[in-house]
Order: sequence, then structure tokens, then C-alpha cells
Amino acid sequence: MPPHRDIAAFHERAQRYEDGWLGRLHREIADRTVTLALAEAAVPAMRVLDVGCGTGYLLRRLADRCPETAVLAGVDPAPTMIELAEATSCDERMRFSIGVAEHLPYPEDAFDLVVSTTSFDHWSDQAAGLVECARVMRPGGRLVLVDQFSAWLTPTLLVRRGKARTKRRATRLLVAAGFRSPEWHDLYAVIIRAATATRSLPRR
Ligand SMILES: C[S@@+](CC[C@H](N)C(=O)[O-])C[C@H]1O[C@@H](n2cnc3c(N)ncnc32)[C@H](O)[C@@H]1O
Repeated sequence: MPPHRDIAAFHERAQRYEDGWLGRLHREIADRTVTLALAEAAVPAMRVLDVGCGTGYLLRRLADRCPETAVLAGVDPAPTMIELAEATSCDERMRFSIGVAEHLPYPEDAFDLVVSTTSFDHWSDQAAGLVECARVMRPGGRLVLVDQFSAWLTPTLLVRRGKARTKRRATRLLVAAGFRSPEWHDLYAVIIRAATATRSLPRR
């Protein structure tokens, strides 16, 4: 697997992460993701995982809006992000772990809904991370994957070779990981999009 290159920067940035215009942008994206995820879920998701959860903002919003949800789990490799998420956690249903998408610290079939916002682009092995998302999700579970996906980003692939920054590349990885019927949604401005998909039945 390629080395994890962005984790140290997020570890250093955690205390300031929700500040300023960038913090507002991330909160707006998370708010829209929560609305989309709730609209997408056919039934209330009892067990939810946020991969690359950062400060835990999205899970706090879900906790407010989902009284019936039993588990709100977050995983992130930056220890200070997890410390902050735990410190600001307002609900006993929330639990946080240090870990990377490529090796999720959960058993198979542990979640009904897996979300991830603006983290996917930082994963060092995006294919392996999506396989892990499928592994920890029950058959028929839903994925909501939000990040920058646009043909406008094609020139950046000269520098970040192999990154799935277009819908076409990401769709290919989603299907290979065991997700069916990926659908795309415009979420914010022109490049922030959400892929929603269902984990294939039966397990591959
Ligand atoms: C831009 S922040 C997004 C945080 C949060 N999801 C949000 O929307 O505000 C990217 C997050 O991805 C995490 N990250 C980086 N590499 C990762 C990996 N391989 N697996 C999971 N998370 C990763 C970083 O530590 C960071 O917290």
C-alpha cells in the first residue's frame, strides 16, 4: 500500500479544523450529507459508521436527528481528531476509534450505513478502503461517499496519479468493491458530489 501522506497534517490541524471559512465549508458539506443519507435510507439505520470522521461533527448532527439509531461510530487515523471527537461527543451512542479506511477496526456486517465526507481523496489505497467499507456493512447496507469528483479535476491527476477524482473512476472502484447501482448527486458547488450505493447481495 502507498504510504499514508496526509494524516500528520490533520493530526496537527485538529484544534483549528472547525474554524474559519474552511470549517464552515466542511460543516455545510456534512449537513447536506446528513440530509442526503437520511433521505436515502429506506429504514432508519440502526448502526452508522463515519470513515475519516475528523472532529465527529457529522455524527453529532446525526445524533440530533436520529433518536432511533443505536450506534454512531467514527474512525479516523489522526489521534488529535479522535481526541476532539471524544471530547465534544454529546451522546453515549457515539464511539470513536483510531484507524484507517484501508484496515477498519470492525467485524463484518457491523453497520447498516457507512458515510464518509471529504476523506476519500486522502486514502492512500482507495480501492482497499472501499472493500473495507463493504466488508463492515451488512448485505443491502447503504454507502454515502462524498468528496471531490469532477472531470474538471482531470488535470490534477497528473500529480495525484491513480486517485479516483472523477465519477467514472470512482464508479469503477465502487463496483469492484462489491457495491451495486451507484448513483451520483450534486452536493456542493460544482465538484463536491455524493455517490450512494448498496452493498451487493450476497457477499462476494
Ligand atoms: C478533510 S478531513 C474531513 C473530516 C470530516 N469527515 C469532515 O467532513 O469534516 C479528512 C479526514 O480524513 C482523515 N484521513 C486521512 N487519511 C485517511 C485514511 N487513510 N483513512 C481514513 N481517514 C483518513 C484525516 O485524518 C481527516 O480527519
